[in-house]
Amino acid sequence: MRNPFIVSGYVSPEYFCDREKESVELIRKVTNGNNLVLISSRRMGKTGLIEHCFGNEAIAGRYYTFYVDIYATSNLQEFVFKLGKEIFESLKPKGRKFVDFFFNIISSLRPAFKLDEKTGAPIFDIGIGEIRSPEVTLEEIFSYLERADKQCIVAIDEFQQINKYPEENIEAILRTHIQRCRNTVFIYSGSRRTLMQNIFFSSSRPFYQSAALLSLEAINEKTYIKFAQQLFSLGNKTVKPDVIRKTYRLFEGHTWYIQAIMNELYSLLDDFKPCAVKMFQQAVADRIASYESLYLGTLNLLSDRQKELLYAIAREGKAMEIFSGDFIRRHGLHSAGSVQTSAKYLIDKDIITKEDNFYLVYDRFFGLWLQKHFGTGLLPVI
Ligand SMILES: Nc1ncnc2c1ncn2[C@@H]1O[C@H](COP(=O)(O)OP(=O)(O)OP(=O)(O)O)[C@@H](O)[C@H]1O
Ligand SMILES: [Mg+2]
Repeated sequence: MRNPFIVSGYVSPEYFCDREKESVELIRKVTNGNNLVLISSRRMGKTGLIEHCFGNEAIAGRYYTFYVDIYATSNLQEFVFKLGKEIFESLKPKGRKFVDFFFNIISSLRPAFKLDEKTGAPIFDIGIGEIRSPEVTLEEIFSYLERADKQCIVAIDEFQQINKYPEENIEAILRTHIQRCRNTVFIYSGSRRTLMQNIFFSSSRPFYQSAALLSLEAINEKTYIKFAQQLFSLGNKTVKPDVIRKTYRLFEGHTWYIQAIMNELYSLLDDFKPCAVKMFQQAVADRIASYESLYLGTLNLLSDRQKELLYAIAREGKAMEIFSGDFIRRHGLHSAGSVQTSAKYLIDKDIITKEDNFYLVYDRFFGLWLQKHFGTGLLPVI
């Protein structure tokens, strides 16, 4: 292991911090046959938690587990494609018998069945447009899951995306199938809190109270500090708890951001040289600078009004009452109307987010970069 602070994907329990209570809860719910809604901000660790639990002995080997991220899908056809492909890919290693059973039941996907020219191994190859009746294919997929020789767990990540599909009755269609499942449990996860809550907890919606809620918050500060110290010591590196604590607090315990800085620090540290605060500041500056072209690209796509509002929110860090005359005057913004339109756009594009009673830049590194370039001119000193 070159750097034990993992910054993309899930590797194994040793490099995964805590989430013990959440794992017990998730495993208990799904093995008990209950569907689950998992909600947190982006990059808090939903996908990691799902993978961590899927690898647990209570699930691995006992259930077939499937994971689909539907963030990039925009209609039922693409949803069905993703789900079908994921099931196929996870069955493929089990051999031809499983693949044949898959295409026997999901016959509308049979045109996707091809053999790799070089290796002779089965491959799934179909144009999305070739899925002519997605509702039929969907029905077949559910029928397959119900007939599998083990119980199935299907995790659908970024589930709120179904609200963007043009099909009007998408929730009702999915709900009808899911309601009939006896052999399959679902985990719906998502980062848009309000959208997710509306799907599952509004009494007028098909999914109303059909799943238990698990909210993922920041990992406990002390637990994270201990975890990070352990990983540093694996590489004979020493970091004062204070530096880890400061990082934790700067990002309010937001998992990926802390991990990214720890990862940077790990690479900056020579063996046995204890980490100084200066090095920490270097790590934050380096990390943020590495995304600069991405941030400039994002800004390029925004109108002047949208940018003004974004800078104003970044300057305040946590911006409250952004439609008030006071906020508008303080930042020289145009009008309450333009702030409203811009805020809606920025939220829709995941550039800012609304929590409780304040707004903030969604990507915390982007927030710091904006503060440096359009605010105080400095990175926050900690
Ligand atoms: N418990 C953990 N221990 C260590 N690192 C973690 C943990 N949880 C998350 N991470 C780190 O944060 C990153 C983001 O986690 P993950 O992808 O699970 O978040 P997410 O909530 O699914 O985000 P998104 O909404 O963007 O999909 C991981 O790649 C990993 O680097
Ligand atoms: Mg995720």
